[in-house]
Amino acid sequence: MSISAKTRSARRRNWTVALSALAATLVVSSPLLADAGAALPPGPKESLALFAGDDAAMLAGLLGKTFETEGWIGELSAIAEDEARRALAEYLALNLPLAAPVEGAVATVLAAMPLDGKELFVQNCLSCHGGDRYFLQQGRTDEEWMGIFDAPYHRRLLTEGVERETFASYAAATTPLKLENVPEALQDK
Ligand code: HEC
Repeated sequence: MSISAKTRSARRRNWTVALSALAATLVVSSPLLADAGAALPPGPKESLALFAGDDAAMLAGLLGKTFETEGWIGELSAIAEDEARRALAEYLALNLPLAAPVEGAVATVLAAMPLDGKELFVQNCLSCHGGDRYFLQQGRTDEEWMGIFDAPYHRRLLTEGVERETFASYAAATTPLKLENVPEALQDK
């Protein structure tokens, strides 16, 4: 299901308000990368933050469950947008159970969870080339995204745990994506 750019930008404004409380949990190393993150739709952990609100007990209950992707999609039916629901479902299917359960406020728990595909992208993919032709405009499946790690120039990237799968599932669910304004950090160099 595709939604219009107008709807996307309206949603983005709502997200911006809702997500300001989460900003501290996003690990970005420069203002430029923060701009890239802000220009993209909410990533899986941002969707999870919105889903949980300030209900730490609900989040803890949710993170105690394990499902395959389709099971998570059912569990997350309150998330209206297909791409966001699928990206979060895949993130949870890949990354739960957590190695060490974390207790505390929603933002604390989210900050301690493994990086999601959006965080992995923003932190790892923009140092050699931009993210327009090399990410936003790409229409690849999970498997085709996994294929980029065979290239010698990508071989050293995302080597921990299920980082590659986490990135590939996010990228497949999120791209191709046309942004109204492509921020400097995402433009092709
Ligand atoms: C160490 C430098 C470097 C980093 C970091 C890097 N790339 Fe690349 N990437 C390259 C080079 C070199 C090419 C091939 C030459 C070109 O097309 O510019 C390339 C090409 C690509 C292509 C075109 C298809 C292909 O495989 O040739 C895609 C898509 C791509 N990169 C995505 C990514 C993503 C996603 C990330 C983060 C996970 C990433 N790149 C991080 C260097 C890098």
